[in-house]
Amino acid sequence: MELIFSERMKNMNGTATREIFKLLSNPEIISFAGGNPAIECLPTERVKLIANDICASPDFPRVLQYGLTAGFPEFRQELCKYVETAGIYGAEMQNVLVISGGQQGIDLALKAFINPGDVILVEDPTYLAFLQLANSYEGVCKGVKANDDGLDLNDLEEKIKKYNAKMLYCVPTFSNPTGKTYSVENRKAIAELTAKYGVIVIEDDPYSKLRFKGEYVPAMKSFDKTGNVIFISSFSKIISPGNRTGVAVGAPEIIRKMEIGKQGTDLHTPNFSQMITYEYLKRGYLAPDLEKSVKIYGDKKAAMSKAIAKYMPEEFECTDPDGGLFIWGRFPEKIDVVKVFPEAIARKVAYIQGCVFFADGSGNNYIRLNYSYANTDMIEEGIKRLGDLFKEKLAE
Ligand SMILES: Cc1ncc(COP(=O)(O)O)c(C=O)c1O
Repeated sequence: MELIFSERMKNMNGTATREIFKLLSNPEIISFAGGNPAIECLPTERVKLIANDICASPDFPRVLQYGLTAGFPEFRQELCKYVETAGIYGAEMQNVLVISGGQQGIDLALKAFINPGDVILVEDPTYLAFLQLANSYEGVCKGVKANDDGLDLNDLEEKIKKYNAKMLYCVPTFSNPTGKTYSVENRKAIAELTAKYGVIVIEDDPYSKLRFKGEYVPAMKSFDKTGNVIFISSFSKIISPGNRTGVAVGAPEIIRKMEIGKQGTDLHTPNFSQMITYEYLKRGYLAPDLEKSVKIYGDKKAAMSKAIAKYMPEEFECTDPDGGLFIWGRFPEKIDVVKVFPEAIARKVAYIQGCVFFADGSGNNYIRLNYSYANTDMIEEGIKRLGDLFKEKLAE
């Protein structure tokens, strides 16, 4: 039988990172490709304890029953407090929606706002799964230039006007893929500019808690005066990605629409997952655990930067993030990292090709390197392998 898929799904393939997940299962390959938190940072003992307590509680049948789409009320209440750590004050129950990871928050925001052909502005480069998802709603992504301070405000305004843009998607803190962070002034200016033109902003924030250097920066949402910013935070990188919990914060009308969208998607985030994250936050485990994780990530990042300086060709330029999970690097244009990739795999080292992060598919001379998953010895060995390989390629 011929399968005739929808127009929406026609151009969708598995994302490069999901495909590369398969490579992670080969222990011989040193992978800088995924975005997994370090295994040693997963709070296994604490979650075991919480899970036992949940099962032993007289309230346990409530966990096994259907729940509210917006999430457990006590969890949502806790989340109103939690987002204060991102500089977002005054959130009430009607402003928060429990989501099954940040990815679902993005999906629900797109579902609520995007019609086929609507233009969505994104930082160039941006999170590749966003590009895929936007495509599935038949949105059209256009890249906005960025500099070390954040988005180029002139380019942003020009493109908002030129395309009559409906939405802006950005990862202002420790971006995936670049690891860069927008300044406070840049955040304020983006909040003002998008409010002026009535552009909805998705502020995607899975990484801000993973800061090992530099000053805390409040969320862009904290500068939102008109309710056009949707803040999406996830517990994947700081508690567990497998537990699938996160929170969306926004104006009540937007949250309500996203809640209705969520009913169609999964009815509600699994109660057990919600309860684990709720108890984890309520018991005050996050701050001390983060302190340890951030130290681990800082050490791994330092090991990668050191190895890059030692082994990579001198033409290779890269970012120096203060947090998050990624370093972003650029080779001279004659290097095509897509073509080189099979040779890297043959030498048992993996990276992500930069072109998947650009709205127009350009950027074949860029790579994203993840430093959270491998240990420091593997980081040194993997970067050495890449350095040798790319030095050979540059000499050809
Ligand atoms: C920028 C960004 N947004 C969203 C996600 C989705 O994460 P989750 O759905 O696990 O919260 C990721 C995961 O890597 C990411 O890097």
